[in-house]
Amino acid sequence: MMETVNKEIEENYWNDYYGEGVAPSFPSSFASLVVNKIDPNKWLIDLGCGNGRDSLFFANNNINTFAIDSSKNTIQNNQKNILKSSETKLIFEVGDFMELSNVDNLPPSIGTIYSRFTLHSVNQEGYYQTINEAYKALDSNGLFLIEVRSVNDPLCGQGKNCGDNGFISTHYRRFIEMREILADLQNYNFSIEMAQEDYLSSWYKEDKAVVIRIIARRNE
Ligand SMILES: C[S@@+](CC[C@H](N)C(=O)[O-])C[C@H]1O[C@@H](n2cnc3c(N)ncnc32)[C@H](O)[C@@H]1O
Repeated sequence: MMETVNKEIEENYWNDYYGEGVAPSFPSSFASLVVNKIDPNKWLIDLGCGNGRDSLFFANNNINTFAIDSSKNTIQNNQKNILKSSETKLIFEVGDFMELSNVDNLPPSIGTIYSRFTLHSVNQEGYYQTINEAYKALDSNGLFLIEVRSVNDPLCGQGKNCGDNGFISTHYRRFIEMREILADLQNYNFSIEMAQEDYLSSWYKEDKAVVIRIIARRNE
């Protein structure tokens, strides 16, 4: 049976985590890897932006960025830190990326959807919903940029087993298999332009994350 992720518990976890102010504020190595692939003439949507470190990085690289997160406290905090003088738009909005089309004030002309460490935050049904929503929201030939924890991540298997490679330790994570995500993206009419499993680039302190990195493009 598919595990239902308890949204309230998860949101409280992220409110507390970001409220502590200990999360990294420098851009992720994945954001640096992909920034030059992004069309600066269209909007980028950051799904599950957390403290907005990558959203700010993209905006500082002249990319209009609309960043959503379900953690209300975190979004409120991010809004305080926006540089109002910047020419480039950076918007933070509370929202659920599994229901992207229902998010308030979603901009037109979306060229990129960016999902870093967020596709593993939802159960399998939510994962499919998110891919489908990303496909619908993107313009033709738009990019879907994904970094997600792999089943080879050392954290996979720790905590309560919820099935489908989902585990609850400090919070819920569903670890992803490369062949699964490639097939799923292709089924949703994306072409794969880059796919790699990376064992080193996304480590942070004791967290020796093993990740899947994908650049996918929406077909017509
Ligand atoms: C591991 S953090 C990643 C934050 C950021 N992308 C980064 O790489 O620094 C996961 C984030 O996803 C958010 N999140 C989880 N499920 C969500 C959902 N269904 N809709 C919107 N945000 C969600 C959490 O609140 C949290 O901020």
